[in-house]
Amino acid sequence: MIKIAPSILSANFAAMGEAVSRLAAQGADWVHFDVMDGNFVPNITFGPDMCKALRPLTDLPIDVHLMVEHPSDWIEAFKKAGADILTIHAESSERHLHRALQSIRAAGMQAGIVLNPATPIGACVHLLPECDLVLLMSVNPGFGGQSFIPETLNKIRALRSEIRSRGLQTLIEIDGGVNPDTARLCIEAGADVLVAGSAVFKAPDPAEMIKALRG
Ligand code: DX5
Ligand code: ZN
Repeated sequence: MIKIAPSILSANFAAMGEAVSRLAAQGADWVHFDVMDGNFVPNITFGPDMCKALRPLTDLPIDVHLMVEHPSDWIEAFKKAGADILTIHAESSERHLHRALQSIRAAGMQAGIVLNPATPIGACVHLLPECDLVLLMSVNPGFGGQSFIPETLNKIRALRSEIRSRGLQTLIEIDGGVNPDTARLCIEAGADVLVAGSAVFKAPDPAEMIKALRG
């Protein structure tokens, strides 16, 4: 069954607690938490203290997407803040991605690698045994509300076949420009988890939208 992970980047920052506490009843599976450092991407959001503040407000897994340089510096802080899943970018300044993924698992969280639209899936193939999930960006990271990049569908198909042929359980998560139309294409191509920011939080009825995204 497909999982839906609303991105709180598109929620009202002045009412973040209320937004997060409603997500489970609205049918969400994970809370997607976009961390931006103004360096790896041209935007700044929030960090471990926000995660810690939101943690008591939901039982859903918190899925932290680190769009930062030196992501391994933040593993312990996010574990302490109650994160369940931590994903790091292959294009970040982390030289030792394999070790960083191992450290995330050793800290007791699920680990994932993220690939930008320009990064071929070959960048994650030899990391798959260390990954609980791979996050394929379907927009260039930094902002919500952008359009889905159709080439992502070919990446999903290729990665799905690689994971299947190796008998692995790695989940494929898609992030950016997900709406009911692109969601259907991603699911057909083999995605397991869909992140949706503006689709969910700008919808008049977020629960209906989450249902529509499942197809
Ligand atoms: C973009 C973030 C996404 C973003 C998606 O850098 O990683 O999670 O919130 O927003 P939408 O769904 O509006 O494209
Ligand atoms: Zn994200």
